Amino acid sequence: MNQPRKIMVLGAGDLGRRVFHELAHSTGERHVQLVGRDEEVALRATNLTRFCAVQRGYAPTVSHALTDLTDVARTAERIAAFAPDVIFLAASYQSWWVISTLEASAFQRVYAANYGPWLPMHLVPVMKAMEAVKLSGTEAVVVNAAYPDAVHPALTAIGLSPHIGIGNVANNVPGITAAAADELGRSTADVEVRLVAHHYVSHRLSRHGNSGPAAMGLGIRVDGRDVTAELDTAALLRRLPAQYRRTGGLAGQTMTAASALSVLEPLADGRDAVVHAPGTDGALGGFPVAIESGKFRPLLPDGMTDEEAHAINVSGQAQDGIREIRADGTVVFEPASMAVMTEELGYDCAEMKLSEAEGRAREISERFAAYRARTTG
Ligand SMILES: NC(=O)c1ccc[n+]([C@@H]2O[C@H](COP(=O)([O-])OP(=O)(O)OC[C@H]3O[C@@H](n4cnc5c(N)ncnc54)[C@H](OP(=O)(O)O)[C@@H]3O)[C@@H](O)[C@H]2O)c1
Repeated sequence: MNQPRKIMVLGAGDLGRRVFHELAHSTGERHVQLVGRDEEVALRATNLTRFCAVQRGYAPTVSHALTDLTDVARTAERIAAFAPDVIFLAASYQSWWVISTLEASAFQRVYAANYGPWLPMHLVPVMKAMEAVKLSGTEAVVVNAAYPDAVHPALTAIGLSPHIGIGNVANNVPGITAAAADELGRSTADVEVRLVAHHYVSHRLSRHGNSGPAAMGLGIRVDGRDVTAELDTAALLRRLPAQYRRTGGLAGQTMTAASALSVLEPLADGRDAVVHAPGTDGALGGFPVAIESGKFRPLLPDGMTDEEAHAINVSGQAQDGIREIRADGTVVFEPASMAVMTEELGYDCAEMKLSEAEGRAREISERFAAYRARTTG
């Protein structure tokens, strides 16, 4: 009998639980483990998933474990004990949607800072998890959800980047595929979209139907032939927030979970696949990727060079509030974005060395809690 493939989901929040749940609904030989820091949450979530799967005729092997990512040695022990083939990181000190729970006008003001200044909230738990990955000696493929577009190029500097990210660039590809297929009178199965876009652009596309001041790259192929020039792609994108609008917010993380599964399932099952992903092999931003025998190969739109794709992603990064990620991992923030954080939260950080990230994350947490208290009526 084949050994079951082992997948560890590290982070038992909304996205981690969704992905864990879906991974357990499979006829594949899998053992899926959910790792959280609260026994009650992790146990209940694991049992819920098991019972749902049983109800639908599956017989999954699921388990749960506990660690706090700040305890690197304990996390490493957990990883070594489970010996996963694939690790999915879904932990964050403050997910993107948390600012939307502020009072409405406070949310609008803080939202104007864009995502870049919040980087430490995603970078630090990933850095801790990756320290544990190294310490454990695991050979697992590590897939990360937390702002891979910027977290991975920063952590590459110290050899701690996860292998690949999920979501962001990927989250709009099905909508663009559907819009193009309907326009062409074809099935979505006949249409292949190749999108190059930073988190900033992917966040914007579904809300505004364009990439705003940032660049993006889009190629559309049908039956293996590039038909981009035959389509009004700007008009297609404008339809994303119109007739192709979808449920967003926390409920919309169903889309993110599907993007995560598009990467995780081929890796877990040892299949090749073509996906979209941010932060592949430590790269900045997102682009299409061929997964081949567990390795990753960029699959850019026809005629686009690696340098052009990188420049597109750098332009999105600037709009997201990050001016530069230096070769040593130091992150330089855009003054305009940081000015919003200073005005609203009293937080100011022109640049951040990786060794300062933990302190910065703590400071943002404290300032954000105080801001919430101040702006709550
Ligand atoms: N790439 C994309 O397209 C995309 C889309 C959606 C979300 N995301 C990202 O995915 C990440 C997770 O999002 P989410 O919505 O699932 O957030 P969430 O519900 O807040 O979950 C985050 C989880 O991280 C855990 N955590 C925080 N600190 C920890 C620590 N020291 N040790 C262990 N666990 C810790 C939290 O544990 P507790 O519950 O105990 O606090 C929580 O369960 C975020 O970075 C988010 O921005 C990415």
